[in-house]
Amino acid sequence: MKKRVGIFVSGGGSNMRALVEDMDATHPAAPVVVVSNNENAGGITWAQEAGLATVVVDHRPYGRDRAAFEGAINEALLPYDLDLICLAGFMRVLTAGFVTPWRGRMLNIHPSLLPKYRGLHTHTRALEAGETEHGCTVHLVTPELDDGPILGQARVPVEEGDTPDTLAARVLVQEHKLYPAVLRRFTAGDSTPLML
Ligand code: GAR
Repeated sequence: MKKRVGIFVSGGGSNMRALVEDMDATHPAAPVVVVSNNENAGGITWAQEAGLATVVVDHRPYGRDRAAFEGAINEALLPYDLDLICLAGFMRVLTAGFVTPWRGRMLNIHPSLLPKYRGLHTHTRALEAGETEHGCTVHLVTPELDDGPILGQARVPVEEGDTPDTLAARVLVQEHKLYPAVLRRFTAGDSTPLML
């Protein structure tokens, strides 16, 4: 039986798309639902056009009540009987209350070589620090932000004249290779880190 995957997005969803497109007949997992906190997320439109189920839970009516927001997501997810969650550009911090029951079954992609540059503006910070190398990481999600066991990393050079945008674009190309490759291995039972 294929593992049932839910993919969480907040924006364009290019990583979600890379994951969905990789989940062919030979894959141990299948995409079951795409979840967003943003009804205008490009990723939601793409998923609907691809015939995938979608769930939108707007975080704004919940204000600071993250637990209530997460409770609404959990409730909406129940019918999908998920085995695994992939965060793919999901820009809301999830609390321990949500994350802990998914321990070992929730993956995230982060645009830096963790443990460097947790949080936001990773490309700007890497440039400001004078890094010569940057990249992305797929890791298991734990309650600490952008922490948890690393399942894979891909590296890119920082080039002369790079801006945050040019660097982000170079990293994103690698994200689209890394995340599907890691998910394929992980769902086949291999948690050893993949280094691209
Ligand atoms: C990606 O670069 C992803 O690594 C990053 O957001 C972008 C989403 O792009 N995620 C984070 O910063 C998580 N903290 P996408 O919507 O095109 O996949």
